[in-house]
Amino acid sequence: MTDLIQSLEAKRVVPLVQSDDPKTALKISEALLAGGLDVLEVVLRTDAALDCLEAIAKEFPDAHVGAGTVLSAAQSEEVIRRGASFIVSPGLDAASVDVANGAGIPILPGISTATELQQAWNMGLRTVKLFPASLVGGPKMLKALSSVYRDVRFMPTGGVNPANLNDYLAVPAVLACGGSWLTPKDAIEAGDFGAITKLAKDAITIAHS
Ligand code: 3PG
Repeated sequence: MTDLIQSLEAKRVVPLVQSDDPKTALKISEALLAGGLDVLEVVLRTDAALDCLEAIAKEFPDAHVGAGTVLSAAQSEEVIRRGASFIVSPGLDAASVDVANGAGIPILPGISTATELQQAWNMGLRTVKLFPASLVGGPKMLKALSSVYRDVRFMPTGGVNPANLNDYLAVPAVLACGGSWLTPKDAIEAGDFGAITKLAKDAITIAHS
């Protein structure tokens, strides 16, 4: 966890990588890395997502290549087999947490209520995703949760964008924000990977301003 936490603390932004083709996924990842982001979340939302994950993890062994949208223990096992170095899920699933713990892989499950966060806390987790962040209260919700669960750090995702990024990052308990705004579909379809590098650089500038 420590290595990942250090990178999250340094970069403060986690881009989502989604593609139905490993070659394109590699180009997206290369563009993000060129922009300075080295924690990537490859989401399991296409038929080729596992192949994309495997290709990226092999090609960029120094990056933190995680799997997102992981919904079950079986998927957790599979993404670890494909080279994921961390797991993110939209909700909290005890069986997935067990798989990740057994493999020594960090897992950031999504929570959206105090009850879910408390369940995660009682599973020993101290780093979670708030999802969908903008719909469940955004920075105010994070402040409220972190005043009670004082040793928990958050990765809010869902509705984070350049305009509100700093509002999230200003909450001390926020480690980093995740989001798809760094990898827009139109830029990928147009083959404009330079736009992705620029978005990554801009995000780092905003995050450190
Ligand atoms: C996620 O999977 O974490 C979210 O769907 C990302 O949300 P966003 O598209 O609003 O960034």
